[in-house]
Amino acid sequence: MRSMRLTLLLAFNALMLFKTHGFTDETDRQALLEFKSQVSKDKRVVLSSWNHSFPLCSWKGVTCGRKNKRVSHLELGRLHLGGVISPSIGNLSFLVSLDLYENFFSGTIPQEVGKLFRLEYLDMGINFLKGPIPIGLYNCSRLLNLRLDSNHLGGGVPSKLGSLTKLVQLNLYGNNMRGKLPASLGNLTSLQQLALSHNNLDGEIPSDVAKLTQIWSLQLVANNFSGVFPPAIYNLSSLKLLGIGYNHFSGSLRHDFGILLPNLLSFNMGGNYFTGTIPKTLSNISTLERLGMNENNLTGSIPTFGNVPNLQLLLLHTNSLGSDSSRDFEFLSSLTNCTQLETLGIGRNRLGGDLPISIANLSAKLITLDLGGTLISGSIPHDIGNLINLQKLILDQNTLSGPLPTSLGKLLNLSFEGIIPPSLGNCSHLLELSMGDNKLNGTIPLELMKIQSLLRLDMSGNSFFGSLPQDIGQLQNLGTLSVGNNKLSGKLPQTLGKCLTMETLYLQGNSFYGDIPDLKGLVGVKEVDLSNNNLSGSIPEYLANFSKLEYLNLSLNNFEGKVPMFLNTTTVSVLGNNELCGGIRGFQLKPCLLQAPPVKKKHSSRLKKVVIGVSVSITLLLLLFIASVALIWLRKRKKKKQNNNPTPTLEVFHEKISYGDLRNATNGFSSSNMVGSGSFGTVFKAFLPTEKKVVAVKVLNLQRRGAMKSFMAECESLKDIRHRNLVKLLTACASIDFQGNEFRALIYEFMPNGSLDMWLHPEEVEEIHRPSRTLTLLERLNIAIDVASVLDYLHVHCHEPIAHCDLKPSNVLLDDDLTAHVSDFGLARLLLKFDEDSFFNQLSSAGVRGTIGYAAPEYGMGGQPSIHGDVYSFGVLILEMFTGKRPTNGLFGGNFTLHGYTKSALPERVLDIADESILHIGLRVGFHVVECLTEVLEVGLRCCEESPTNRLATSEVAKELISIRERFFKTRRIARS
Ligand SMILES: *[C@@H]1O[C@H](CO)[C@@H](O)[C@H](O)[C@H]1NC(C)=O
Ligand SMILES: *[C@@H]1O[C@H](CO)[C@@H](O)[C@H](O)[C@H]1NC(C)=O
Ligand SMILES: *[C@@H]1O[C@H](CO)[C@@H](O)[C@H](O)[C@H]1NC(C)=O
Repeated sequence: MRSMRLTLLLAFNALMLFKTHGFTDETDRQALLEFKSQVSKDKRVVLSSWNHSFPLCSWKGVTCGRKNKRVSHLELGRLHLGGVISPSIGNLSFLVSLDLYENFFSGTIPQEVGKLFRLEYLDMGINFLKGPIPIGLYNCSRLLNLRLDSNHLGGGVPSKLGSLTKLVQLNLYGNNMRGKLPASLGNLTSLQQLALSHNNLDGEIPSDVAKLTQIWSLQLVANNFSGVFPPAIYNLSSLKLLGIGYNHFSGSLRHDFGILLPNLLSFNMGGNYFTGTIPKTLSNISTLERLGMNENNLTGSIPTFGNVPNLQLLLLHTNSLGSDSSRDFEFLSSLTNCTQLETLGIGRNRLGGDLPISIANLSAKLITLDLGGTLISGSIPHDIGNLINLQKLILDQNTLSGPLPTSLGKLLNLSFEGIIPPSLGNCSHLLELSMGDNKLNGTIPLELMKIQSLLRLDMSGNSFFGSLPQDIGQLQNLGTLSVGNNKLSGKLPQTLGKCLTMETLYLQGNSFYGDIPDLKGLVGVKEVDLSNNNLSGSIPEYLANFSKLEYLNLSLNNFEGKVPMFLNTTTVSVLGNNELCGGIRGFQLKPCLLQAPPVKKKHSSRLKKVVIGVSVSITLLLLLFIASVALIWLRKRKKKKQNNNPTPTLEVFHEKISYGDLRNATNGFSSSNMVGSGSFGTVFKAFLPTEKKVVAVKVLNLQRRGAMKSFMAECESLKDIRHRNLVKLLTACASIDFQGNEFRALIYEFMPNGSLDMWLHPEEVEEIHRPSRTLTLLERLNIAIDVASVLDYLHVHCHEPIAHCDLKPSNVLLDDDLTAHVSDFGLARLLLKFDEDSFFNQLSSAGVRGTIGYAAPEYGMGGQPSIHGDVYSFGVLILEMFTGKRPTNGLFGGNFTLHGYTKSALPERVLDIADESILHIGLRVGFHVVECLTEVLEVGLRCCEESPTNRLATSEVAKELISIRERFFKTRRIARS
C-alpha cells in the first residue's frame, strides 16, 4: 500500500516537471534511455534508477542545469559499464561534462559527440575504444579537457586539432595513433599538459610547439619520433615534466640545457640515440627529482649533483660515460648531498678506477644501486652496509676484488634473485646450503642431489617451482630439508624415505599433492611440517610411533580417514582437513566407528558450506584445546619449579592470555603498535584491559627455525633470574593463530621510555617516538652502572655464569625514571644448551652471537659465547654512549674502529670526540667533566681489548664506574665552591 503511494507520488512529481519545463528535457530522457539500452545487459542494473518513475535529474550520474533542467553533467566513471556508446549521446545538447572513465566500453566513439558544442570536459580514458578520433570532435571548440588515454584508438592526429584552442589538457596516452604531429598543435596556446606517450607517432616534433608557453607537462615517451632534441622545447621554460624517452632521437643536448629549462622535476630521455656529453648545467636545475639519460651513447664525465637536493632517481646506465680513469667517480661525493636518492644506475659505462669509499655515504634511502658492467676495480667499500635500505645491489661484470664486506649482512632488504646455477653441484663437500627468504626461482637443480655431504638444505621462502627431485634420497646425510613456502608441486618423491638421518622436514606452503610417501625409516625425525599443500590419502599410522617426533603439522590438506593416536610428546595439528576422523578428543573430529562413505567430489556448494561451517567451529574448539594444553604445560612446569624452590619467581599474572586477547590488545598486531623488532621477533605495545596494564608483547618469529625453542628457553631461564635492571617477564602465550600457525609470545613489563638506542640517536627515530631531550652526562653514567650491575649479577652471582651475547643499546630499555633494564638476556646460552647444532648452524648470523659492531672479535672466529664477549660488547656500548657514534658509523672501516678513534683522542682531545649533545645541555664544561669523560671512556677501552683475557673483569667494571661517579660528584662540588 505504502510503496504504491510512493510510486504515485513520484509519478506525479515527474508530471509536474514535464509541465513546468514544457517537455524540453524529454530529448535528454530519450537520449539517455537509448544510451542505457546499449550498455551491456549484465551491467545495466547499475543504471536501474534510469526509468520513467524517477525524475531525470535524480538519475544516477546525471546532473542538470539549475534553471533549464537539461542534462549538463553525465558522470559514469568507474562503474564497470560495458557495451557501446550510443550515438544518442550527441542529443544531450546542453552537456558540459561527459565522464565515462575506466569502464569497459568498446566500439568507436560516435561522430555525434561532435554535436555537443557546449562540451568542456570529455573523459573516455581506460576503455576498449577503437577506430579514429571522430573528426566531428574537433568541432567541440569549448573543450578544456580531452582525455582518451588507454584505449585502442588509431588513425592520425589531423590538422583540425588546432581548432581546440581552449584545450588545457590533451591526453592520448597508450593508443595506436600514427603519423606525424600537425603544426597546428601550436594553436593550442592554453595547453598545460600534453600526453602522447605509448603510441606509434613519428617524424619530428613541429617547431610550432614553441608557442605552448603554458605547458608544464610534455610526455612523448615510447613513440617513433626522430630528429635532434626538438629545438622548440628549449623555449618551454615552464616545463616541469618532460618525457622523450624510447624514441629515435639523436644528436646532442645544448650545453645551456639546465639554464633554459630551469624548472624541471622530471626529465626522461632514456632509450634514444643521443650522443655527446651530459650538459654540466643540469646541476643548475635545483628542483630536479628524476633524471633518466640511460641507454643512449653519451660520452664524457658525469657532472656533479651537489646542488640538486631532491634528486630521487638518477639513471645514466648503458652509455659510454667515463674514460676508465680514477677521476670518473669524482661526481660521486657530490651525490652525498642528495639525501632523497633512491635509485642510482650508472652501470654499463666506461667508468674506471677504484670504487670510492664515499659510496657508503650516499643516502640511506637508496634502494637500487647499479654499478654492473663497468671498469671499476678495487674492493667493495667496507661500509656499504650503511645503505641499509638497499634492495638491489648490482655489481656484476667488474674487476672488483677482495672479500665481500661483512657489513653486507646489515642489508636485510637485499635478496638474491634468478636461478641456482647447476654448477653448484660441483661443490661436492658442501655441508650446508642456505638460501632461504630470497627471490630465487626456477626449478631445484638435479645437480644438487649429487652433493652427498649435505647436512642441511634450506631453500624456503623463494619462488622455486617444479617438483622435488626424485633423487632426493641420494642425500643420505641430510638432517634438514626446508623447501617451505615456494611454488613447488607434484607428488612427493618416494626416495624421501631414504634420507634416514632426517630430523627436520619442512615442505609446507607449496602445492604438493598425492599421498605421503613411505617415511617409515625416518625414525629420528623431530619436526615435520606438511601444512598448506594439497596432500591427500590417510595419515600413516607409523608416525605415531616416532618417539623423537615433537612437531607434526598436517593442517590445510585433504587428508582423510583415521587420525592415529600420537604420543603425547608430539604436538600435532590437523586443522582444515575435512575428511579426517577419530584422534584424541581435543581434535573434535567425527568418530570413525561407521566407515563413512567417501564424499562425492561433485557435491553441491551447499554441502561445502556446511562442511566449512563445521570445520570453522572445529578450528575454534581446537584452538581452545591447544591453548589449554599449552597452559597446562606452563602450569605444570611452574608447579614443579615451586616444589624445588619455595618462592615462585615467574610471576604468571595472567595465565589465560590467548592469541585472541593479544591480537585485540595490539590492535591486530598493527604496525602502529610495533615498538621494535629483533632477530627473534617483533615487539608490540599492548593494553590488557582485564589487567588495566600496558605491556610489551614479543611475538616470536616462527619462520625462523629455533624460535620455538628460544621461546621455551626464555620462559625457563627467566624463572630463576631476577634483577632490578633486567626486564621482567610477566607471562607467555603458546597458541595457534587464526591461520593455524603456531604462535608464541612473551609478555614483558612495558618500558615507557623506549630503548637507549633511541635516546642516543634521536635523529634516526620517527618523530612521534623521539625522546623530547637528550641524556645528560650523569644519566648516561647511571645507565652504564645499571647495565654493569646486571652483567655482574649474570656473570658472577648466578649459580652458573650466563652470557647475554647480544648486548647493544637497543637491548637496554629505560623505565619512567630512566633506570636501565636489559632485555633479551639468557636466550643464547639456553639455545646453545638445547640444540647446539641449530645454534651454530642457524643462529650464528646476527641474532645470538651478537650484532655486527658489538660482537667480540673471537665470535667472528667461531668462539663460544662467553662472559668475556659480553664485556667487549659493554665496552663498545660505553664508547657509543659517550661519543654518540655507533661502531658501524660511516667514519669507521677496515682497521679504523670506534675503539681506535677513541683511543687516539685520549686524554687531550676528549672533548673533541665526546657526544656533542652531552656538552650542549647547560653543562659547565669544567675539569670534573673532562676527567669523568676521560675515565669512563678509558673503562670502555679496557673492556674492548682485542684479547678476551686482557679485558676488564665484569666485577671490576661496575666498581670502577661507581667510583668514577663518586669522584664526579666530589670534583663537581669543589668546582662549584
Ligand atoms: C590556428 O589558429 C589560427 C588563428 O587563431 C586560425 O586562423 C587557424 O585556423 C587555426 N588553425 C587550425 C588548424 O585550426
Ligand atoms: C657510441 O659512441 C662510441 C664513441 O663515440 C662509438 O665508438 C660507438 O660505436 C657508439 N656506439 C653506438 C651503438 O652508437
Ligand atoms: C652540498 O650542499 C651544500 C649546501 O647546500 C653546498 O654548500 C655544497 O657546495 C654542496 N656540495 C657539493 C659537492 O656540491
